[in-house]
Amino acid sequence: MDNHLEMTENTSSKPKDSVISVKNLYKIYKLGEERVRALNGVSFEIGRGEFCAIVGTSGSGKSTLLNMLAGLEKPTKGEIVLEGTHIENKNENQLVAFRRQHIGFIFQAYDLLPSLTALENVALPLSFQGIRRKERNMRANKMLDMVGLEKYKKHKPTQMSGGQQQRVGMARALVVRPDIIFADEPTGNLDSVTSEEMMHLMQNVVRKKGQTLVMVTHDDHLASYADRIIRIQDGKILSNTLVQREETEKAKKPDDALQDPDEEKTVAPTT
Ligand SMILES: Nc1ncnc2c1ncn2[C@@H]1O[C@H](COP(=O)(O)OP(=O)(O)OP(=O)(O)O)[C@@H](O)[C@H]1O
Ligand SMILES: [Mg+2]
Repeated sequence: MDNHLEMTENTSSKPKDSVISVKNLYKIYKLGEERVRALNGVSFEIGRGEFCAIVGTSGSGKSTLLNMLAGLEKPTKGEIVLEGTHIENKNENQLVAFRRQHIGFIFQAYDLLPSLTALENVALPLSFQGIRRKERNMRANKMLDMVGLEKYKKHKPTQMSGGQQQRVGMARALVVRPDIIFADEPTGNLDSVTSEEMMHLMQNVVRKKGQTLVMVTHDDHLASYADRIIRIQDGKILSNTLVQREETEKAKKPDDALQDPDEEKTVAPTT
């Protein structure tokens, strides 16, 4: 599908309401005598509600950057501010709490629990938040509808295709309504048609909820779904581009399969 894109080439394109702010970030790995500068002085900002793609070839530093942003690895130097909070100096317990409150992940390996159904897999993270069973199931149900898996709720991972499992993984990440979602090559194992479907889905879901999505990819075409494209090479930013879509594209109604889980809260059993 043609996206009717109009590029704004602007290396300092700053968002109005920044959710992620990175300043002078370095990650240097020591391998014996050798030092690998996986991130070599990176600065940028990502705005609320943006879908940002981080694009680069293999070894350019994409995963390193994403792992730092998500607080999974410590930077050698530099600042990372998420939702106004510095995370670079937080200890592991603080990071766990911060991630639980603000962050969702979509991985390439779906990491679904094999003994649980799709519904149970999606509902699982809600139990860590102390949400009661009825509400857990209601939200998981709606999220699975949203990603087009109405008919697969009772299926276990081995009874689903790779694309379906990936959508379960996505539903599981989104069901907790995180402010920020990180995805590392989320469609890496999928065919191109299924990958495009995933992109549409991610684009629409985050747009509806004003969530911020940061996706790592080496694929320019998939990156074209993003609002912001950050190109990285040898641990440095080559360009930071805000993509402005025509209003019609932005105002376009989301796919029919995509229903807002909050929009039809008619079944709210209280007993
Ligand atoms: N734990 C580590 N120890 C040493 N070097 C590392 C480590 N992790 C990554 N690197 C190096 O840092 C650089 C960036 O790696 P990174 O995984 O961020 O690349 P990438 O852009 O995600 O690549 P790919 O597309 O292949 O996943 C590479 O040169 C890699 O070899
Ligand atoms: Mg990687």
